[in-house]
Amino acid sequence: MANQEIHSEYGGVVPELASRAHQQNIVPVVQQALQRANIVKKDLSAIAFTKGPGLMGSLLVGTSFAKSLAQGLSIPLIAVNHMQAHILAHFIEEDTQQKPPFPFLCLTISGGHTEIVKITDYFSMEILGSTLDDAVGEAYDKSAKILGLGYPGGPLIDKHAKNGNPYAYKFTKPKVGDLDFSFSGLKTAILYFIQREVKLNPSFVKENLDDICASIQETIVNILMDKINNAVKKTGITHVAIAGGVSANSEIRKRLKALEKTRGWTTYIPKFEYTTDNAAMIGIVGYYKYLSQSFDSNDTKATARLKVDE
Ligand SMILES: Nc1ncnc2c1ncn2[C@@H]1O[C@H](COP(=O)(O)OP(=O)(O)OP(=O)(O)O)[C@@H](O)[C@H]1O
Ligand SMILES: [Mg+2]
Repeated sequence: MANQEIHSEYGGVVPELASRAHQQNIVPVVQQALQRANIVKKDLSAIAFTKGPGLMGSLLVGTSFAKSLAQGLSIPLIAVNHMQAHILAHFIEEDTQQKPPFPFLCLTISGGHTEIVKITDYFSMEILGSTLDDAVGEAYDKSAKILGLGYPGGPLIDKHAKNGNPYAYKFTKPKVGDLDFSFSGLKTAILYFIQREVKLNPSFVKENLDDICASIQETIVNILMDKINNAVKKTGITHVAIAGGVSANSEIRKRLKALEKTRGWTTYIPKFEYTTDNAAMIGIVGYYKYLSQSFDSNDTKATARLKVDE
């Protein structure tokens, strides 16, 4: 496993640094994975890799490496859609995790995506609604930046929010379609609010950080809950999952879970370690594609933009 702490110094992911880190890490990470699984390369049945969406430089490193390894070992190649993988992370655990039955809805909330997806089979997915501008993870990260917190901002806002009053400040919810999202207006509203208050009291952020974080979180979580509620009403599907990095958020997890009692839904909340990007989620997609012998040819291309239904 490797993560890239270097980005926290820059307040966001720097694409060039990400590609270089991928280049540096890929061989040792694969060796470590084999060692930990207690197998050798020739025990492998196929090579699964992330085709997209994502940063092109990083995707190219993985794609070229996977192709060479598959060719070298004469085993099949399996291209994985990163957004499908976030959702299918719900199928990783054999026993401990309750798996969602088809059809189910998934609110995928991450650093680059915010969408409600209807899943009718492992590889049959339809986007019912998505963000028109920023992703919810970006809203968290940009709000954190305005407040002078570190990167990634989501976990930090979540942490401060736990000690704050969620009704201290009010931010208006965006007016968009029933199942669509918009977060760029919220970011601007937060920026102007903070600038205004800091003019009156330079220590405003410091003195009220927990309340500000709790109020931002309350606004975001209300938006998400409204939308998923609309989707359940529209589809009649009451099996509801969350996925993606932002699904690590404590308030989102709590509020979704509460809907089991109040609305009679069945909810699926991923284990904490399967929320942000992880290798297991790519592995599980590889597994299902392998079962259906759905392999890819060597001219498969990395694709920076790829929808969950592609
Ligand atoms: N507890 C939390 N509360 C809110 N947001 C969180 C929390 N933990 C992580 N995040 C957010 O999750 C995001 C990262 O998630 P993830 O790694 O799935 O995104 P990504 O891979 O960059 O984007 P994508 O999957 O759309 O390509 C960041 O924006 C981060 O702030
Ligand atoms: Mg991701």
